[in-house]
Amino acid sequence: MDLQLNGKTALVTGASRGIGLAVVHALAAEGVRVVAAARTPTPELAAAGAMPVAADLSDPATAARLVTEAVAELGGLDILVNNVGGGDGGLNGGFLDLTDAQWDQVVDLNFFATVRVTRAALPALAAARGAIVNVSSIGARVPHGGPVAYTTAKAALTAFGKALAEEFGPQGVRVNTVSPGPVRTDMWESPTGYGAELATAMSIPHADLLAGLPAAMGMLINRLVEPDEVASLVAYLASPRAAATTGTDHFIDGGAVKTA
Ligand SMILES: NC(=O)c1ccc[n+]([C@@H]2O[C@H](COP(=O)([O-])OP(=O)(O)OC[C@H]3O[C@@H](n4cnc5c(N)ncnc54)[C@H](OP(=O)(O)O)[C@@H]3O)[C@@H](O)[C@H]2O)c1
Repeated sequence: MDLQLNGKTALVTGASRGIGLAVVHALAAEGVRVVAAARTPTPELAAAGAMPVAADLSDPATAARLVTEAVAELGGLDILVNNVGGGDGGLNGGFLDLTDAQWDQVVDLNFFATVRVTRAALPALAAARGAIVNVSSIGARVPHGGPVAYTTAKAALTAFGKALAEEFGPQGVRVNTVSPGPVRTDMWESPTGYGAELATAMSIPHADLLAGLPAAMGMLINRLVEPDEVASLVAYLASPRAAATTGTDHFIDGGAVKTA
């Protein structure tokens, strides 16, 4: 199916690997011109035909600069994919282990980075009657299934998407949320990521955690979600094919969530 995206413009955050990189590939394959942001742009981004921009979105001043650069480079903005999130590990531990500084860091990256980028991008998106896709998590709806600061920040992000859809729908801007379950990215697979830390906390080998994860999460597909599967959903929601879809939250979790 032609997604009718040829010639459109997009900004993707958290784009250097994992889900973000897969979104860049999916959009570029549809003929979208993409500005791709991460702290350390990877060679894969340039190979995908994207325009990489180095941007640390945990710094509040970065969002406006990034959007200004992207809009100037692209000559406008049709699509914003707020994918940045997760973190560099350090998410594990219970509520009483978390300091204010850790809450700030997690909520900043998983919620306020998107708030700031979206605020800066909305004038251009409204001018283009564009679309926003936010990457949240099933943890927003199943908050016991992950670290409390992360799932709380993602719950805020999901609510934010719904509120934005209401406020900016009349201006022609669509806003949708994609909520993945476990996806096969560095977040789970890196020896320094969340998955490795969780395995250490559970005193089991990292490989055993990964092998048992689909069953432990109740995933009916018996494997992790692939990044390009999330990217296909994001590209569809960003496209004119989804013109009647706004204010929604789409799970892509292999059936892990049983209640929605
Ligand atoms: N993987 C999963 O199982 C899963 C499940 C549900 C939701 N999600 C969500 O999906 C999104 C992508 O996750 P992922 O698994 O693809 O993550 P990932 O593989 O860890 O990639 C994260 C991306 O964000 C960038 N990034 C990290 N910190 C940043 C910062 N301060 N400023 C700018 N960019 C930054 C990273 O590049 P640099 O390091 O170069 O900055 C990288 O491109 C996140 O919002 C995550 O919460 C993931």
